[in-house]
Amino acid sequence: MEFNHVSVMLDECIEALNIKSDGVYMDGTLGGGGHSSEIASRLNKNGTLIMFDLDNDALSSASERLHNFECKKIFAHDNFKNFLSTMEENDITSLDGILLDLGVSSYQIDNAERGFSYITDGPLNMAMDEHAKLNAEIVVNEYSEDALERIFREYGEERFAGRIANAIVYARKSKKLHSTLELAEIIASAVPAKARYSGGHPAKRVFQAIRIEVNGELDGLRESILSMVRNGLHSGGRMAVITFHSLEDRIVKDAFNLLASDCICDKKLPVCVCHHKAEVRLINKKPLLPTATEIKSNPRSHSAKLRVLEKL
Ligand SMILES: C[S@@+](CC[C@H](N)C(=O)[O-])C[C@H]1O[C@@H](n2cnc3c(N)ncnc32)[C@H](O)[C@@H]1O
Repeated sequence: MEFNHVSVMLDECIEALNIKSDGVYMDGTLGGGGHSSEIASRLNKNGTLIMFDLDNDALSSASERLHNFECKKIFAHDNFKNFLSTMEENDITSLDGILLDLGVSSYQIDNAERGFSYITDGPLNMAMDEHAKLNAEIVVNEYSEDALERIFREYGEERFAGRIANAIVYARKSKKLHSTLELAEIIASAVPAKARYSGGHPAKRVFQAIRIEVNGELDGLRESILSMVRNGLHSGGRMAVITFHSLEDRIVKDAFNLLASDCICDKKLPVCVCHHKAEVRLINKKPLLPTATEIKSNPRSHSAKLRVLEKL
């Protein structure tokens, strides 16, 4: 299957990164390489682009797409959390810019074989990394009812989390669950008829929750952002992060605010005792959003939020 993914807020990201032609940049979420090829096209042969993805399909498709650019290209089949070891291995001491475009690509969702879709049938998988130990089939068939309910509530913000977890546990007693549509039907039948299509497809939030659990998408995200700024960027370097749901965005917003604060004392204290100093300046106080034109041509961009900072 062809690797199709329309890059979100592409112009805004490129502008935010303020690219220097001989700079060193990192794309933590390569995907189809849409953002990376725009970055690479602005780099000369002295520039470097480090690219991470957990997904081998993304790496092979994007490496072809980026083949003709003259900058140094480093591809890493790894979690962006491990960026420091890739920098060390390549004798890179600091970065001019970092981009994170979080979540999954359209290719991953649309390729039924990957098991992310509640519209097209496929195996219950949802792992970005094909070698990952955890997948959706294990979560759905082996997690306790309490654990499922917690994941659906926390990662899916699903108000019928308890009913859905109960329906899954009941269904799997008679037969192990294998397919995405089988799961989507169980979820739909557990949601009260009146609420079934009020917030989009009834399985949307639960599939998001399982995907986040399988890929550990929120684990260490805050620490990664703090470390990328403190140990990756040099002074004047920029970081741009695109999020697609409120849980992710809250983590990014809080990490950015912490880095941008001169004081992190309890607000009740009359004077500052923390002596914390801002490490970054926020380029935009409020996140940038996609334009109406972008949302119309790429509806998947509708929930995107772009936050940008510059290291002091
Ligand atoms: C939204 S897509 C990126 C699309 C890309 N910006 C483009 O323009 O084509 C996110 C990609 O990041 C990868 N990904 C998500 N979390 C990751 C992580 N923690 N480490 C490495 N790759 C990750 C996913 O496998 C997916 O391919």
